[in-house]
Amino acid sequence: MPRLRKPVVLITGAGGEIGHGLVTRLSASGSPIITIDVSPLDASLAPLVAREFTGSITDVNLLERILAEFEVERVFHLAALLSTRSEFTPITAHHVNVEGMLNLLEFAQHEGESHGRPVTFIYPSSIAAFGLPDLDTKMRVGRVREDEFTHPKTMYGCNKLYCELLGDYYARHYKQLSVDAIPRVDFRSMRFPGLISALTVPSGGTSDYGPEMIHAAAKGEPYHCFVRPDTTIPFMAMPDGVDALLTLAAAPRARLTRTAYNLSAFSRSAAEIRDVVVAAFSNAKIDYQVDAKRQGIIDSWPADVDDSAARADWGFAPTYDFERAFREYLIPTIQQRYRR
Ligand code: SER
Repeated sequence: MPRLRKPVVLITGAGGEIGHGLVTRLSASGSPIITIDVSPLDASLAPLVAREFTGSITDVNLLERILAEFEVERVFHLAALLSTRSEFTPITAHHVNVEGMLNLLEFAQHEGESHGRPVTFIYPSSIAAFGLPDLDTKMRVGRVREDEFTHPKTMYGCNKLYCELLGDYYARHYKQLSVDAIPRVDFRSMRFPGLISALTVPSGGTSDYGPEMIHAAAKGEPYHCFVRPDTTIPFMAMPDGVDALLTLAAAPRARLTRTAYNLSAFSRSAAEIRDVVVAAFSNAKIDYQVDAKRQGIIDSWPADVDDSAARADWGFAPTYDFERAFREYLIPTIQQRYRR
């Protein structure tokens, strides 16, 4: 039977940090893309997508319209309120991050039922899913595995951890007591460390001191780092983050032993990041004005994570270590961006 609807990939939150890189990479590979974002896509992205929906993932009617018109084979569900912003409006964060996720999982299940194949559902979870009890424990334990210290202290972290479980429920136990229900969601997620993009400045995250430092220095603006110099968490350059999304999406299902995978590329302190930024931008003015509450959030995130499961199961292998990320990606691309 000919296909009545158009086969596409759906990206939510497409105009955000990760979305920028993902839309660009996916469109270069020829995949037809449709997007949902609360704001219109910027001029660099809009021409790359087959259809852009400006609206919210909490709008079930919007998802119904998409279901009627498109055969969605893969979902990259990126839309979320990040960790700092979520602490100011926790109820809204829960609404968008959890209820929005539930809407998308239902949508994917219905898509899968209508075209008869599982819908691959890729979900970026976060290092925020962890919650270490105190700084001493953080310094003592070093790299943590996926199932250790999963007691997040932020609304965002609680949302991410629960959504990992919701995805697993849809993939493996959906309506398990109904005789005719077949799970149609092939759910896969990774816990990203702090992501650093040369093209966009994040908004509302707590790991943002890393990227904010670099972008401020390139613009010649002073920057007050809101965490102590010794503060350490893992980071990753955005191209490796986008690679990870695409590699996990393409991995053979039978190889995947987990629902959520830790990922890391380089674990560095705020002082080490400041040092390379100051070396690259001679007029950088970066000092420390610690925000005790945001510091508390970062102190509850691990100094490093054990990502051996991602490496073994689906070949995760970041190409940018700390030196290369700055030397070959962040500094030249950011310099070029602000020169323009
Ligand atoms: N980078 C995100 C944040 O800081 C964590 O996923 O909120």
